[in-house]
Amino acid sequence: MVALYAAVMDTITTYTGLSPAAFFTILALMCVVYKTVCSMFVDPEPPEDLKNKLISSSAAASAATAANFSNQTMIPETVQLGDVTEHELRAYDGSDPNKPLLMAIKGQIYDVSRSRMFYGPGGPYAMFAGRDASRALALMSFDPQDLTGNIEGLSDSELEVLQDWEYKFMEKYVKVGQIVSEQTSKPTKNGDKVPENQNHDGA
Ligand code: HEM
Repeated sequence: MVALYAAVMDTITTYTGLSPAAFFTILALMCVVYKTVCSMFVDPEPPEDLKNKLISSSAAASAATAANFSNQTMIPETVQLGDVTEHELRAYDGSDPNKPLLMAIKGQIYDVSRSRMFYGPGGPYAMFAGRDASRALALMSFDPQDLTGNIEGLSDSELEVLQDWEYKFMEKYVKVGQIVSEQTSKPTKNGDKVPENQNHDGA
């Protein structure tokens, strides 16, 4: 046993050129450095009881986050409105959080609730909510006078701009109805595409 110990010490000295004491000191220091560096990258395992607490509190936290998230992003269910006058559409401008946010282009009404950040109160395009914004969109105008579905007198290129907006809306939002004129309660001349499958009572 003593012979083996002496042989190991001799080998260390022969191969490293260090005394056994120096060799083991350096080895111990290397272990400490290794452990320290590793602990910088790996989370230490918490004790069992703390671990359980952490699991339950993180579940509560993520449920709270999810609830918060769904509260913040709660979007009223899309409801088909059918025929609505321009005046009635105004009620859907986002001032009542229980109502969907609606906006019309060329007489067709879209549910834009999912883009509350654009059209909701305080949003950059809040002025379009509850309106047929055809003229404003065609002219790329924020002038309140252009907040109308009246597209008379627009040039071909302006109508083309409006068409692009309509395609964008058709692709992105659900159509929920169409604007009808107050007197006749018939689709307006701007409402050129009245879908047959919608609640259209012809009143
Ligand atoms: C300085 C000029 C403008 C800038 C920098 C700008 C910028 C933007 C940006 C970054 C978006 C978000 C696009 C997306 O994420 O889908 C957006 C959306 C929109 N912009 Fe503008 N905009 C400008 C002018 C206008 C004007 C003049 C109008 C119309 C009068 C307009 C109408 C809209 C509408 C309606 C949306 C929302 C579209 C949707 O519902 O997805 N913008 N704009």
